[in-house]
Order: sequence, then C-alpha cells, then structure tokens
Amino acid sequence: MYDSTVLDAIDPRDLRDCCGRFATGVNVITTRTDEGDHGMTASAFMSVSLDPPLICISVSRSANMLDKIRESGRYAVNVLPEGMRGHALHFAGRGDGTLTEPFQSRHGLPVLPGAAALIIADVAEQIEAGDHILFLGHVRHLDRDPAASPLLYHAGQFGGLAAPAST
Ligand SMILES: Cc1cc2nc3c(=O)[nH]c(=O)nc-3n(C[C@H](O)[C@H](O)[C@H](O)COP(=O)(O)O)c2cc1C
Repeated sequence: MYDSTVLDAIDPRDLRDCCGRFATGVNVITTRTDEGDHGMTASAFMSVSLDPPLICISVSRSANMLDKIRESGRYAVNVLPEGMRGHALHFAGRGDGTLTEPFQSRHGLPVLPGAAALIIADVAEQIEAGDHILFLGHVRHLDRDPAASPLLYHAGQFGGLAAPAST
C-alpha cells in the first residue's frame, strides 16, 4: 500500500516542520479510567461526517493517552480559547505546576471549564496509522461558547487571531 522508497526519502523533521506550517486550533483530549482522569494536548483533530456525526483524533503510540482511551472507549475534545495557553502547555507535559484540579465532570467524562467548545464521543473505530492511532469517534454530546476566541498553533508557536472573527 505504501511506497517505501518514497517514504524512506522523507526526513521526519522536514515532514513535521512542513505539516507545522498548517495552522491549527489546539485541543485537550480528556478521558476517564479506573486509574483516574487524564488529559493530553492535541492539534490532530478533524471533523469527519455530519450524518452520522463523526470526528477523528490522532494519538501517538508513545502517549499515555493511548491505553486510557482504549480502556474507556470514550473521549472529550476540549477546544481551547486563546486564554488557555497554560492548559495547552500543562497537558503537553510542559506546565509550570500551577494547574491543579483542572477538571469538571460532564456526561461521565472530565472536561475543562472555560473551553471554547466541547465534543464528547464514543470510539467507533481505531485505525493503525504508523506511529499514531486514529480514533474515529461517534459524537454523543456537544457544547460551545460562541464568544470565545480560539487558541492557534503554527510553526511551533501559540497565537491568536490578528483581528476578532467577524460573521
Ligand atoms: C500544540 C501541541 C499539539 C499536539 N498534538 C498532539 C496530537 O495531536 N497527538 C498526540 O499524540 N500528541 C500531540 N501532542 C503531544 C502531546 O501533547 C504530549 O506528548 C503529551 O505529553 C502526551 O501526554 P500523555 O503521554 O500523558 O498522554 C501535541 C503537543 C502540542 C504542544
């Protein structure tokens, strides 16, 4: 299926740097197991289908989150507003230790108060994708703050919109 000759010619750092030129929003993926609540910063998210309602996230094989989502079979996508840059760093393992007890409970999952949007999904399918696993999720619950301005990520830097979004 894959042409390994072409793949071998791609430097992973080049690939990461090129993909990093694609500006994204920033999410914290959360889930709950018997061991407790867990969150992980993630930009690899996309909406997939409206009918049925499907989304997708990509989780590294090396992330603690991987086994936790496999165990719980559910996850929440907490879309971060610009003011929650500290949460993005914290859940990427780069926090300054000031965030404690960040979660509330909604629909049996930990969620972040103040998120710009919340999407709760059951895992519908797991797709092996190299060093990541794609989790296709069937959306079960939604919430959003229409006034929130998004946190953005581009070329390894966090930022915000240059001007407020107009409708
Ligand atoms: C802006 C940003 C986006 C990230 N996106 C992802 C992602 O989509 N998937 C992923 O597996 N890791 C992603 N990471 C890395 C994880 O957040 C990081 O490895 C984290 O420490 C994993 O947590 P865990 O091992 O405790 O689950 C991202 C990090 C940052 C800063």
